[in-house]
Amino acid sequence: MSHKTRLIAALDTQSIQQANNWAHQLSRHVDALKLGLEFTYACGFEAVKEFSQKHPLFLDLKLHDIPNTVAGGLSSLGQIHPKLLTIHASGGRAMIERAREALEIAYPNSSERPILLAVTVLTSMDENALHEIGVVGSVDDQVLRLGKMAISSGADGLVCSSKEITLLRQALGHKPTLVVPGIRPAGSASDDQKRIMTPTDAARAGADWIVVGRPITRSENPTAAARAIQDELQSA
Ligand code: C5P
Repeated sequence: MSHKTRLIAALDTQSIQQANNWAHQLSRHVDALKLGLEFTYACGFEAVKEFSQKHPLFLDLKLHDIPNTVAGGLSSLGQIHPKLLTIHASGGRAMIERAREALEIAYPNSSERPILLAVTVLTSMDENALHEIGVVGSVDDQVLRLGKMAISSGADGLVCSSKEITLLRQALGHKPTLVVPGIRPAGSASDDQKRIMTPTDAARAGADWIVVGRPITRSENPTAAARAIQDELQSA
């Protein structure tokens, strides 16, 4: 593998103290820490801001609204410096273009600009769920359609399931950043994740970042769990 796959630990908690504890144990052993809706709604943006001043942050809020509102939301992020953030590709081209523009204005120094990631199809949705919302065709078709549109609209990358990495790399090449959740080290519990892959296989398939939650945070020794995954990525 020619490029290093980086590790994000998902801190799914409503407690500032818990997030700080995990961050303390993990920050030297992972490349970023993920906070999402659960932490943000429970603890507030001030807590997210403080956290982002101490740690590399993946802010996973999956924005989806009219272009003007998404752009307004992102331009209010100026004092928070997430390394990566998410919007929904299904918000459409204009929304993604405005999101990109808003980030370029809020972070004029391109090295500080967060990596803009578009979520294609939620991994909780199968073909039947897609049909119910009017999407005809397979999950793969929809992932590919949304992925191409999102990258050509200015997204830097995509959040995708491990099973979609190869498909997206074939269609889009190596430039887009691919961030992949649903990762389980060999031998760990799958929890509620259905389409899972080991860190080694995700790295070999071409993931730039993997997102790992419970196998780290529910481990008796989160530091050791994160280090073991990093070792696996190093030798992938
Ligand atoms: O605990 P686990 O490793 O399953 O956590 C994975 C993290 O990635 C969670 O924060 C989950 O919300 C997130 N995620 C996911 N699948 C997606 C997008 C995000 O599991 N498609």
